[in-house]
This record gives sequence, C-alpha cells and structure tokens, in this order.
Amino acid sequence: MASNSRTLSAAADPGAPAPGNQWSSRLTFILAAVGSAVGLGNVWKFPYIVGENGGGAFVLVYLLCIALIGVPVLTAEILAGRRGGASPIRSFGIMAARDGHSAKWQLIGWLGGLCAFLILSFYSVVAGWALAYLGYAVGGDLSAAGGADDVGQAMGTLFETLLASPAALVGGHTIVMAITILIVASGVRGGLEKAIRWMVPGIFAILAGLVLYAATASGEFGRAAHFMFAPDFSALNWDAVLVALGHAFFTLSIGMTAMMAYGAHLQKDAPLGSSAVAIAGLDTLVALMAGLAIFPIVFAAGLEPAAGPGLVFVTLPIAFADIPGGTIVATLFFLFLAVAALSSTISVLEPVVEYLEERTRLTRRGAALESGGAIWLLGIGCALSFNVAGDIRFWDRNLFDLLDFLTSAILLPLGGLLIALYVGYVLPDRAVRAELAGIGPRGYAVLRGLLRYVAPLGIATVFVYGLM
Ligand code: TRP
Repeated sequence: MASNSRTLSAAADPGAPAPGNQWSSRLTFILAAVGSAVGLGNVWKFPYIVGENGGGAFVLVYLLCIALIGVPVLTAEILAGRRGGASPIRSFGIMAARDGHSAKWQLIGWLGGLCAFLILSFYSVVAGWALAYLGYAVGGDLSAAGGADDVGQAMGTLFETLLASPAALVGGHTIVMAITILIVASGVRGGLEKAIRWMVPGIFAILAGLVLYAATASGEFGRAAHFMFAPDFSALNWDAVLVALGHAFFTLSIGMTAMMAYGAHLQKDAPLGSSAVAIAGLDTLVALMAGLAIFPIVFAAGLEPAAGPGLVFVTLPIAFADIPGGTIVATLFFLFLAVAALSSTISVLEPVVEYLEERTRLTRRGAALESGGAIWLLGIGCALSFNVAGDIRFWDRNLFDLLDFLTSAILLPLGGLLIALYVGYVLPDRAVRAELAGIGPRGYAVLRGLLRYVAPLGIATVFVYGLM
C-alpha cells in the first residue's frame, strides 16, 4: 500500500492531489494531529498565562473551553476536511457543489490561510528562541550565567541580549522555517509522517522524564499542583476568559482549518469523535504536565510564576542553574520545546501548500518554498519588532504582539465560530451523520447541541465581553 501510493503520487500530475495521499493509519493521523496540537502553546504559553492569570480558576475555565467548545470544533474541522477531501479552501468548494449550499463558505478557508501566515511568522520566531536556548544549554552559556553573582540578572541579560540581536532572532527563525519547508515539501507520507513518527513519542518521553524529575527532586510538587488546581476566582476576569478561550483554539490547532487539512488525509472509515477526544485529551495532558514540570522547579528556586513570556526562557533557566544536573535537564527541556514546535509549524504550512499545489502550477516543493518564503519575510518583521523595529506600534503593540493577539483572540475564535455554524447548520444532516457513524445517537445529539448552541453562544459571549 505504501509503495503503491508513492508510485501513484510520483506518476500523477504534480498539480493534482495524489489519490493515495492518505495517512498510513488512523494512529498516524492521531500522532500527526497531536504533534500539531502539542507545541509552544502547551509548554511556553500555557504555563505563563496560567501564571499571569492566577492559576487554578484560569485552568478550570480553560478546561471547560477545551471540553465544551474545543472538542466539538475539532471534530467539526476534521469532519469537514474529510468530507471535502482536499485543501481546506477547495474542500468548501467541493462540499458546496456536492451538498448544494453557497460556495461563499470558502471564506473560512481563506481566513484560515491568512491565519497561517500570521501565526507561523511569530511562532517560528519563538521556536527560534528554543533553538537558541538549546544552543546555550549545550554550549555551557546557561551554566556560565548560573555561576554569576546575580543569577537572576545574568539570565535576564541573556534573554534580553538574544531579543536585542536581529541576527540571532532572524537566524533562529530562518532555521525553523527551513526545516519546516523541507518537511512539508516532502509530502504527507514522505515528510510529515516520517518526522512525526519519532517527534511525538520523543516529546512524550522527555516530558515524562521532566515531570518525574520535578516531582521527585524539587520538593515543591504539591505547591505547584495547588497553584494549578485550586481555583481562586478572585483572580479571574473577562480578559482572562478571553485568553483561556483563545488559547483553547490555539493549543488544539483549530480555527484556521489546519485540522481540516489533516482530516482530508484520514481514512473514510476511521471514527471521528473518539479521535478528536483522544487528540484533545493528549494535548491537555501535555499542557498540564508541562505546568507540573515547570512550576515545581520555579517554586523550588523561590521564583514567581507570573513572569509572562519570559517564564521558560528566564525564570526556568534561573531555576535550572540551582538544581543538580541542571545542564542536562535544560538541554532536554529546550530540545523538547524545539521538537514540539517543529511538529506544529509543519501543520500550519501544510494547508497553504496544499492549496497552492491544487490551484497553481507549482509542485509541492515549489509551493512549500514560495509560501514558506513569504512567511519567512513576515517573520523577519516579527523578529525585528523586538529590537530595531520596536518603535513601530499598532494599537500600542509591536508587530509580534499584534499578530499573537489578532490570531489568538480574534481570528481563531472567529474561524471556530464559523466552522461550528457550518457543520452545525449548513452541512446536510445526513452528511454529518454519515461522517460520524460510530458515535451513536446520544453522542450525535450531544455533539450537534454543542456545535449549534454551546460553541457559538460561548464564543460570541466571550467575544463581546472580552473585547469590551
Ligand atoms: N497548537 C500549536 C501549539 O499549541 C500551534 C499550532 C499549530 C496552531 N497549528 C496551528 C495554532 C493551527 C492555531 C492553528 O503550539
């Protein structure tokens, strides 16, 4: 089967989607989707927004967003992708023709394409930080800073120096984009699958080791667990709820049709509901484990969890400097972070490349290079917004913060809202039922209710309150 599909794709017109271009199994699809979901969002962003928003109450709201809005929208995306069977944009066109509704729903795909550009350009810069810190850990810079009189200041300086260096930031970003382009250019089976097969197990293995380490060596595991799971609702406001909702979309990779693209390569007979639950469950597990790995180490070093984006790049290295075997732990941690980021970046580029492959004369390689190149250019803008272009402000934000806010707080929830409405109301009932065969009438009723009422109302409410 595998060699068969390869011959098919090699023989076919490079502009047309290869007929045998499917994940080799349902498990591979789940691995790929988990690889997409698990990334900087879980390890860099989740712990710091938990820290900034007071811990337990925020985590609770986040978990509700995942269960009531995230899982249904994720199911809807995979469903729509599989039913369309092509790039997200074209899938909406194919479904419109087949099911007799407006082709204007392609707008969701276009919004998703825009989102891919915006997300990847800042995401790749942060993934570059992870690579830089991997280099620092291996090269002994972290232990050197750890030996300074004032460790906190030395680590702060290290991070500030990185951010102040256009060459270092653009360099890291360039390496990340190059690897991403290389993997995506090699195709679903030849590139994405091959990479994901070792990346995702690797991510889980390292993370499990880190949690074990934090639980046994830090002595502060209990305090970390209390911080994350004992809700203090006085720390909660609508802003925080908007952050939690936006992050639920970001961390599950939903709202920009990336999961639609992955779903398009899923076998027709693979069950959707349980796949979505498995993906969301594993993603949530990683986020919680990341918190349980990071906070104990941070607390044990007597540091505060509310350090913002610097949490894993400043606070955590300070803590690493303090612990036995810190260099090894730091190396493993940043390796883990970089790999997790790369298994996500490929899923952001994939939908764009598929569309270009279908609609232009570009080969997959050419499409990956051109779209990746354009994103690389925009990413340079993000990298420079930390230093030479820092004065260029948009509503009081630099370009990096603007793109982060615009995507997480606005475009992803908007995309998710539209997808929920699309699958909840526009796709014919029999089509949705056919795709969901296997979840049973009760499961179907629950999902439909979540898609039609809970998700749209939830997203709309948070929008209205959060943005005012
Ligand atoms: N989910 C990834 C993370 O948490 C990021 C990501 C990958 C993403 N693909 C996406 C976010 C698509 C939004 C949309 O790091």
